[in-house]
Amino acid sequence: MSITKKVLALGAVGLMAAGLAACSSEAEGSTEGGAVDCNVGISMPTRSLERWINDGEHLEKLLKDEGCTVDLQYADNKTNKQISQIQNQIAGGAKILVVAPIDGEVLSPVLSEAKKTQDAVVISYDRLINGTEDVDYYATFDNYRVGQLQGEFIEEQLGLADGEGPFNLEPFAGSPDDNNAKFFFSGAWDVLLPYVENGQLEVPSGKAPKSNDDWASIGIQGWASDKAQAEMDNRLTSFYTGDEKVDVVLSPNDSLAIGIEASLKSAGYTPGEDYPLITGQDADKANVKAILDDEQSMTVWKDTRQLGDTVRDMIMAIIAGDEVEVNDTETYDNGKKVVPSYLLEPQVVTKENVQEKLIDSGFIDASDVGL
Ligand code: BGC
Repeated sequence: MSITKKVLALGAVGLMAAGLAACSSEAEGSTEGGAVDCNVGISMPTRSLERWINDGEHLEKLLKDEGCTVDLQYADNKTNKQISQIQNQIAGGAKILVVAPIDGEVLSPVLSEAKKTQDAVVISYDRLINGTEDVDYYATFDNYRVGQLQGEFIEEQLGLADGEGPFNLEPFAGSPDDNNAKFFFSGAWDVLLPYVENGQLEVPSGKAPKSNDDWASIGIQGWASDKAQAEMDNRLTSFYTGDEKVDVVLSPNDSLAIGIEASLKSAGYTPGEDYPLITGQDADKANVKAILDDEQSMTVWKDTRQLGDTVRDMIMAIIAGDEVEVNDTETYDNGKKVVPSYLLEPQVVTKENVQEKLIDSGFIDASDVGL
């Protein structure tokens, strides 16, 4: 997982620049004041999660400020809708596609069409597009590190390295069709599995993958809060019948954490008293509020503004025919190629640093979280 600063070889960039020559000449004369000629289709998975709304709006604004033509679409977490939206963007002349895939495995045909008809440059956004040569760059946060931060938080809070335990753990994983989910799980499980194996962590439900590769067996399809809630309800009613209490829940993100928290509260767990540690990711407002109210212990914050800035920089480099800066050329093998990636650093947010990290930086407003 080491991240080495690398810049993509000039040859590949030259090809890309040639592909974009048509784009530049087509719009010549249509731009004023040196505005950049740039036609971008952005395809986001869903408006149902706050983060994707922020991601889409932020990137759209950055690109419009650069003079780009931008078409931003959301696909309601429906794969077919995402494919047809991308087809429309290709037909509408998009020369650059920025895609956060719903299902990382199914976009190969539509991207091949984008290459054939528009010679488009494809940037995989936050989630990797698998099984195709037709993805040029990947911009994301270090997804393994996200899980590792969750695992290390649990290890530290419970004193596992000092031999404390046993504690009851319930682990969850993300959506099986999202390539990120296995990285999140691996990062956390590499820290926690040794403690499961030596008995410091017990998993009363039995839902403890024996290895990182088995993560999908505890994955929650579509990252749905209600499915996570139902799963937690099942575990509580089936496996916590006597005096047993849950001490810690590994939740890979905030949408799952919200469902898990609802389940725990309706089963009688009281924040500040017998309430378990719960992890998360994204710093969604409802979860930040939950952190302030002792209903969630932490979230891994990915400053999605940085991700937008990175993608804007990639696009500007592509348009100018310059080298695209990447910092990882090893980790993200999509089955057809190792996709040159730019990985950003995630950060831990707890009750103690909500103000400093999230509010002082302008990521959320104090009033949104009742402060
Ligand atoms: C993203 C997370 C998000 C999840 C659900 C993942 O691919 O990296 O930030 O919580 O999808 O939308």
